[in-house]
Order: sequence, then structure tokens, then C-alpha cells
Amino acid sequence: MNIKWDAGKYTADFSFVHRYGSGVIELIDADQGSSVLDLGCGNGALTKALQDRGYLAKGLDASADLLEIARENYPDIEFLHGDATDFVLSKPVDVVFSNAVFHWIDAQRQPDMLRCVHDALKPSGQFVFEFGGHGNNRLIHSALDSVFAQYGYRYEMPFYFPTIGEYAALLESAGFRVVYAVLFDRPTELKGENGLKDWINMFVKTPFSVVETDSTKASMIEEAVEMLRRDLYREGKWYADYVRIRMKAIRL
Ligand code: BEZ
Repeated sequence: MNIKWDAGKYTADFSFVHRYGSGVIELIDADQGSSVLDLGCGNGALTKALQDRGYLAKGLDASADLLEIARENYPDIEFLHGDATDFVLSKPVDVVFSNAVFHWIDAQRQPDMLRCVHDALKPSGQFVFEFGGHGNNRLIHSALDSVFAQYGYRYEMPFYFPTIGEYAALLESAGFRVVYAVLFDRPTELKGENGLKDWINMFVKTPFSVVETDSTKASMIEEAVEMLRRDLYREGKWYADYVRIRMKAIRL
């Protein structure tokens, strides 16, 4: 994962991540009592939604801080500490589910993650997921790219946003049959007058590691936000230009 989470702030100010995730759950076609792994479960909000649907849900996440919140909020759910690209379950599950996680994993590590998912599923098990697809946050990253160049830095894109074709090929190579795939725009309202600035501070961390001072970083973010105001600020609200890739694949 390319981030160290600020777990409390993430849970308080970015809850839309989980709200939107409930649509992905609809793609699961499994009986009550089926076992489901929520891969990259974060604070456990969607693991709980899976449990509420009658599944035997458990979560796995690499962030100890987010898992602490998950265990506190949902003490009757099992949460495992682990890396999505290097985990083994004690027993295979019927479904692996994931929301808003895979864009954090570098392209080179995706095959490792898909191998772990394949091995975690029973034969014919379902793999249902959504994350940032090709073109996700294109305006935001292009504004940051310009501002970095203006300040004499190179903007290293920290996310993986594949096309359907690219990701379907990876799934097929990893032993899955793709049965559903869609790429769609989802402009997403951000919270408050500083919504976009807060979003950049929360999620775009590694590119700023080359910037010498906090005040330079703050100025760069201010400039990027002003560049984006025309496109992403409407009627007193900030919106992020999200694009989602949503897929379902069956383990062969
Ligand atoms: C996303 O959910 O698409 C996303 C969130 C934060 C940073 C990058 C992508």
C-alpha cells in the first residue's frame, strides 16, 4: 500500500468511500451464510454491511490503526492484519470483495495480489471489486503535475488506474473468468469549503516527499486547488472527478 493512513480523520471526513461501496456488494450472488473476505477492509464499515446481508464476513487490512477502529466498532467480526499482496487464509472463502483499495497497489504488485485472491477463493468462488479506473482524478493529478513542474519538481503518480482491458487481461492470467466489467464516472462531493485541499492532504502523500518544507507544500496545494476551482467547484461545493472500475470474476 502506498499510504500511511490518518485513521481517525479518514473515518470522520471520508465516509463516502464506504457509502458508495454498498453498490458493489449488490454484485455478490451468494447464499446467506456464505463466507466473504473484505480485502482492504479499512475501518470495517463495509465488512459490517456484508455481515448485515447475512454473510459470514471477515476483513483483512494492512493498517493496524484502521483495524483498531474496526475491532472497536464491530467486536463480533474477525479482522486480520495482513498485506493484500502477501496473505494466506486458513480456509478458502466463497467470495472475495474489495472496495477502493487496488489503486493503492503498484502495477508490478497486482499479479501478487491476484495470486493471493485466487488462492483464498474456493473453486468457482466470486471476486467482486471496485476501485479507481483509467482517468480517475485526471484533473486533480494534472493540476498537481503542473504545480510540481512550476516549483521544479517531478510529480510521480502514486496510483494505479487501469483500463478494463488491462485489468481483465491480468485477471485472466491469474486464473479468473471475467463475467462483469464497467468503467464509469462518479463525480464525488467532498466535505466542506476546504474539501479539495483536505482530500489532497489526505490521499496524495508520497509525491510531496521530495518537497523541502511544509510551507512550500501548502503553497503548492493552494495553487493546485485554485487551478481546479473552475472545473471542480460548483454552487459552493467541491467535487472530485472520480472514475470507477467495477468488475466481477470467477475463480477457475
Ligand atoms: C479512489 O477511491 O479512487 C481514490 C481515493 C484516494 C486516492 C486515490 C484514489
